[in-house]
Amino acid sequence: MRNKELDQTLVLIKPDAMKNSLTGYVLSQLSEFHTGLVFAATKVVHVTRMLAEEHYAEHRGKAFYPSLIEYLTGHLHYPDEPHKRRILAVVYQGPDAIEKVRAIAGPTNPHNAREQRPGCIRALGTIMPLKNAEDEDIDERMDNLIHASASLEEAEREIKLWFKPDDIPPFMRAFAAIHCEDHFYYKDDRLFNTYEPGSLCLLAPGDVVWESDLQALQLISQGSPALCSLQSIVAKHLVNRKISVES
Ligand code: PPS
Repeated sequence: MRNKELDQTLVLIKPDAMKNSLTGYVLSQLSEFHTGLVFAATKVVHVTRMLAEEHYAEHRGKAFYPSLIEYLTGHLHYPDEPHKRRILAVVYQGPDAIEKVRAIAGPTNPHNAREQRPGCIRALGTIMPLKNAEDEDIDERMDNLIHASASLEEAEREIKLWFKPDDIPPFMRAFAAIHCEDHFYYKDDRLFNTYEPGSLCLLAPGDVVWESDLQALQLISQGSPALCSLQSIVAKHLVNRKISVES
């Protein structure tokens, strides 16, 4: 039976919340006092395109997807101030973490949030019309201040995407982590076990890694299909590395 004390959810405090100085408000709404949940991890992240694309992978191909990526990477709210492009990623832990955080976040669409749950966080969001080259409305984007995981399965995928095991205190880790015994290097969308000039060292012997990431890397090294993409592992290892800074 699952230990509900270890239930976890991922919250992203997005660039519109940062820009409107709502970070403190969001953290206060989600505090242990209001939710009974505790922090398991927090991180200020300069979001690369690779990380945003992996986070929203299920929406690839939808009309709002390109704009969603521009939004999460901070390009929309900070077009001329790349150094301000960042979000706050937080893992909350405790029984029913998913439901508790989503109740306080409110409906995804800020218009619905205002109508259905006045006072919820997303009631402070906005809807941005999306136009095509002919200036016709094609869709809309929801600038809804925070992301909150939709299910336990999504939370696991998302937490492993944004955080390494070492970002979370060992006694708070909800997912299996093990020591890596090999080297893994990354260059030009390819994985190597020995150093290639210009490659990035993802993992070295002794590093603590999500067990599922290591299994995926081993399969990818052998040319076999894996349960997650190479990019979803690389994106996490590029977080806040100078090498990864994009315009
Ligand atoms: S949810 O709340 O995660 O269950 O919503 P879901 O529909 O699964 O996720 C959709 C994410 O894409 C963002 N987004 C939009 N969704 C639907 N329609 C439009 N036009 C749209 N524009 C943006 C939406 O905000 C969800 O992202 P998050 O980060 O979860 O808010």
